[in-house]
Amino acid sequence: MWSCMRRLSAAAVLGCAACLGAPSPLELTVPAQFPPMVIPEDNPTTVEGVALGRRLYYDKRLSPDASRACADCHLQSQSFSSTNATGVLPHVNLAWAESFLWNGSTEGTLEDAMHMEVEEFFGTDVALLKEPDLEALFRAAFGDDEPTTDRAALALAQWQRTLTSGDSRDDRYVGGELSALTASEIRGRDLFYSERGECFHCHATRLFSDNQFHNNGLDAEVAGAGRAAVTGRSLDDGCYKTPTLRNVAQTAPYMHDDRFATLEEVIAFYSDGLVASPSVDPLMQNVHDGGPHYTAEEQTDLVAYLRALTDDEFLSNEALASPIAGE
Ligand code: HEC
Ligand code: HEC
Repeated sequence: MWSCMRRLSAAAVLGCAACLGAPSPLELTVPAQFPPMVIPEDNPTTVEGVALGRRLYYDKRLSPDASRACADCHLQSQSFSSTNATGVLPHVNLAWAESFLWNGSTEGTLEDAMHMEVEEFFGTDVALLKEPDLEALFRAAFGDDEPTTDRAALALAQWQRTLTSGDSRDDRYVGGELSALTASEIRGRDLFYSERGECFHCHATRLFSDNQFHNNGLDAEVAGAGRAAVTGRSLDDGCYKTPTLRNVAQTAPYMHDDRFATLEEVIAFYSDGLVASPSVDPLMQNVHDGGPHYTAEEQTDLVAYLRALTDDEFLSNEALASPIAGE
């Protein structure tokens, strides 16, 4: 029923002349125990739309001087993050995000985020997209070969919805395969989901993010920083979007300013390095004592658990790699 409606709306957008070559609806994967994926009626996911979005993501012609592609900073092997800029956020399960960037300055759907990336961040010049190879992809996806920044953003949003990761060893453990985690990882997991760890309150659900903003106790001086720069509210001082922990072993360095080089440093911070400030989250228990002071074994276990959130299939899936020959 639902896919029929999507098929209809795609045909309606294209008009009858294009009906014969209408793009084919693509069924998207939603991993077990994920929330439902909401797809806007006016941008159904199609095989051809995803192919265009994938191509644009890897294509330097999306930038006005053809100097860089999205994939220059967002590398598949690093869960679509990298060290090529500071604080590069990964592209994983963004289909479930409602705000984007560390301070959430872009809110709404993936379409909204992609419009911002194409039109504001890159400032795409459509003249560079008017080349036969790209025009053919635009025609297949949208019925005629006119490239626009709107269509580029819609296609990129469709592509982003295919960047779904839900097949780590932790997922297999949750699915009932109890041998998928080692004893140390299970201890780390138990701590993660305990009131002593508190991790799960913010790194919540199978997305490992509550999609909210928190001050997790990194700094004493937080006035105007992070989310507060968007909202102007002092309770948002030093608050940043909770990053997902999926594939976190591949996304070093850590935090919005890349201050920690390793997961061991991150856990040492949560154990002993918490800093008080007026907006620090109440979940950062013992902040006035620097933290809960995990034992050496607890820290090793937590790091081990975080490493069990790696989804090797996602990081090496050919369908998510560059479609450009020779890359
Ligand atoms: C020069 C490196 C660079 C390039 C090129 C780049 N990005 Fe990013 N991207 C970043 C950084 C850094 C951040 C985090 C910035 C912030 O939050 O302030 C980010 C964040 C994002 C986010 C937010 C993710 C989230 O969890 O909120 C999206 C979406 C995104 N980029 C998409 C794109 C797209 C699409 C392109 C190509 C049009 C692109 N990026 C090109 C560096 C880059
Ligand atoms: C109060 C909410 C909250 C709690 C509780 C919390 N975190 Fe975080 N976590 C965040 C936020 C927000 C960030 C990003 C902060 C920043 O960059 O300024 C973050 C960052 C991280 C990062 C770095 C991720 C990256 O890609 O940079 C890791 C790893 C992490 N947390 C693990 C944990 C673990 C393990 C626990 C439990 C011991 C925990 N967190 C508890 C909110 C929380």
